[in-house]
Amino acid sequence: MGLLRRLIRSCRTDGTAAVLGRVRRRLWHTRTCVVYRKPLKEMGMPAEYENVVFREAHAGELDWLTDQLVHMGRRRQELLERQFGPGDATVIGVTPDGSEVIFHVWLSRESLAFDLLGPHVGPKDVSTRRLWVSPAHRRRGIASKGLRFVDCVAAEKSYESICAFVEERNVPSRGLHEGLGYEDYGRIVLRSRFGRKFARVRCRGDQTSRRVTVASDVITL
Ligand SMILES: CC(C)(COP(=O)(O)OP(=O)(O)OC[C@H]1O[C@@H](n2cnc3c(N)ncnc32)[C@H](O)[C@@H]1OP(=O)(O)O)[C@@H](O)C(=O)NCCC(=O)NCCS
Repeated sequence: MGLLRRLIRSCRTDGTAAVLGRVRRRLWHTRTCVVYRKPLKEMGMPAEYENVVFREAHAGELDWLTDQLVHMGRRRQELLERQFGPGDATVIGVTPDGSEVIFHVWLSRESLAFDLLGPHVGPKDVSTRRLWVSPAHRRRGIASKGLRFVDCVAAEKSYESICAFVEERNVPSRGLHEGLGYEDYGRIVLRSRFGRKFARVRCRGDQTSRRVTVASDVITL
């Protein structure tokens, strides 16, 4: 009875489609991520661009970022707070007058994917997460330029390679990363089976995949 009441309450606050999606993800779901990796070579100074200014955001801008990055959902303030840890960087692209964020990515050491990759990554690896370009500015090379800027930021922080975890069916993001020279390094397959979750991990050089149990609240990497 308690469960039914919780479901009805969630449907009222989040909408029926969102709740059904959550139920489906718990019961039977498979999500395949391509692991991309790129060694960072000698980086020059980041280039300047006409219609966008790329820079590192700082923790003092949290309230402004929360207003700007609405696509990150209701928990965005809490999510953004975690992006300013040691060794991390939040890179944004803003319009020349500085009023609007049109590019965002988190350069992060913290991720389930890194835990799952185990010995395949080391302390000199970093990953990009929450990559996003504002829909009105897509397909104009913003992400390509932004990720080149991110390479410079990562190299400045002494990282030697950069990883990205892209859903296999995300054609735009896969094209973007492959065009920028990221190599296909492996697969992480997340599976939900009646509330239990596990991942299968296979990287370049592995003979077989590894099966790892993951926490039941994990939705994505
Ligand atoms: C993926 C995303 C960041 C791309 O940003 P963008 O600024 O439009 O990308 P670019 O203009 O730099 O495109 C670079 C390349 O990516 C690929 N690409 C980008 N959008 C594409 C699309 N809609 N369809 C097919 N390929 C696409 C192409 O190979 C493109 O090169 P081309 O224009 O020479 O063909 C953007 O679509 C986005 O924010 N998507 C939603 C969030 C998301 O999926 N993030 C990635 C999570 S891993």
